[in-house]
Amino acid sequence: MKNLILLLILLYGTSLNADISKGKAVYAANCAICHTVNGGSALGPDFNIVSYTRAKEQIAGYAKDPYSHYKAFGYSANAMPTLPLEDQEFKDVADYIDSLQPFKKWMIKKKH
Ligand code: HEC
Repeated sequence: MKNLILLLILLYGTSLNADISKGKAVYAANCAICHTVNGGSALGPDFNIVSYTRAKEQIAGYAKDPYSHYKAFGYSANAMPTLPLEDQEFKDVADYIDSLQPFKKWMIKKKH
C-alpha cells in the first residue's frame, strides 16, 4: 500500500513536470513575442502577474479563444490573435504559466 502511494506520487510529480516543460516550449514558440514572464513589458500582460490573478482554467480558456474572453477579463478590445494550437498545448501552456508563482514553485519542490 505504501509503495502504491509512493508510485502514485512519483507518477503525478513526473506528469506535472512534463506538462510544465512542454508548456514552456509552447510559450517560447507562440506567446513570448507578446508576453514576458519576468515582469517585463510587451504588448500583452506579463505572465508572472497573470499567474497570480487568474486560475489555470481561465488562462487556458483565454489562450484558446481570446475573442470570447476579452470583455470578461476587462479589456475594451481584443488585440490577441486566435492561435492554431491543440487543446493539450493550451492546457500545457496554462500549466506552465500557473507554475510561475514563486509559492507554487516551492510547493512542487517540496513534494519530491
Ligand atoms: C500578437 C500578440 C500576442 C500573442 C502572440 C499572444 N498574446 Fe496573449 N494577449 C495579447 C494582448 C495584447 C493581451 C491583452 C488583451 C488585449 O489587448 O487583447 C493578451 C492577453 C492574454 C491573456 C489574458 C491576461 C489577463 O489576465 O488579463 C492571456 C491568459 C493570454 N493573453 C495568454 C496567451 C498565451 C498562452 C499565448 C500563447 C499561446 C498568447 N497569449 C499569445 C497579445 C498576444
